[in-house]
Amino acid sequence: MTDAAAERTSRTFTTIGVIGLGTMGAGIAEVFARNGFTVVGVEVSDEAVERGRGHLTHSTGRAVARGKMSEADQAEILGRISFATDLAALAQADFVVEAVVESLEVKKDIFRRLDDIVRSDAILATNTSSLPVTEISTANSRPGRVVGVHFFNPAPVQNLVEIVRTVVTEPGVLADVEGLVGTLGKNPVVCGDKAGFIANTLLFGYLNHAASMLETKYATREDIDAAMRFGCGYPMGPLALLDLIGLDTAYEILDTMYKQGRDRLHAPVPILKQMVTAGLLGRKSGRGFYTYDGVDSSAVV
Ligand code: 3HC
Repeated sequence: MTDAAAERTSRTFTTIGVIGLGTMGAGIAEVFARNGFTVVGVEVSDEAVERGRGHLTHSTGRAVARGKMSEADQAEILGRISFATDLAALAQADFVVEAVVESLEVKKDIFRRLDDIVRSDAILATNTSSLPVTEISTANSRPGRVVGVHFFNPAPVQNLVEIVRTVVTEPGVLADVEGLVGTLGKNPVVCGDKAGFIANTLLFGYLNHAASMLETKYATREDIDAAMRFGCGYPMGPLALLDLIGLDTAYEILDTMYKQGRDRLHAPVPILKQMVTAGLLGRKSGRGFYTYDGVDSSAVV
């Protein structure tokens, strides 16, 4: 822990629970393990645990292949992560991050069940990108110790974590989570509980607009992406970024923000829904606006 972070946090975090080991959850588990924490990853089945383990091995293996991490360090990092299929494994966790599917009911159910499992002083967090943290927190009997912690994809790379406070978040809890995020080498920003928080509220209007440009054949996918990469210095264009985020996730985030804020910038453009229905989800399904099986087939529209 850095001195600056130590000054900001009054509590010692040792064991971190991560619920859900999909792309985001595995990335979050990796970030904590890389920074010396003991991590307990929980998934719904042995099969899902193996998938999560695969994400972790692949991601750390990429760092080894690039010469950024030794094989010994990789083994040590992976050795800090244990796996379970039962939430009861989180009994000793100091901090628990839930990173399961974006379903309010599923998340509330998990926070309800955590009530009887985690220590009363543990801090609980949800990695939701657009659902109401307040509603998730009140499923638990200690909503004052529940916050949102929103990591960005890929979690091991992106240096921002949005910390979402609700009207009942205890100030000390907020300070402790800010300190914890600082120990991960990430920049914490704090905001209130409004769908999309800071970054997605700004980002998704832009991404939606890019999809609309393609849908109306205003420009090609290559030119839309090139404009933002070469003209504005973004690391990737908006359509490539939508493929990275996942079109289903992007659709859900836009839909939730639109329903809550009624800002027409966030009304998901039809092509997004159509592509999701057709199974074109982006990188994870092998095809979205681009293809990822090595064969670059024709553009979607
Ligand atoms: N997991 C772990 N590490 C990864 C990774 C992954 N999935 N993808 C890339 N990396 C690492 C690489 O290992 C490499 O590390 P190194 O510098 O230590 O060698 C570094 O990232 C750069 O990777 P590459 O050289 O392969 O590729 P790029 O330079 O093109 O970077 C990128 C890839 C990091 C994805 C970059 O294009 C980028 O930052 N894109 C924008 C991503 C973004 O905007 N994310 C936010 C999305 S919104 C969101 O997450 C909110 C949610 O609610 C939807």
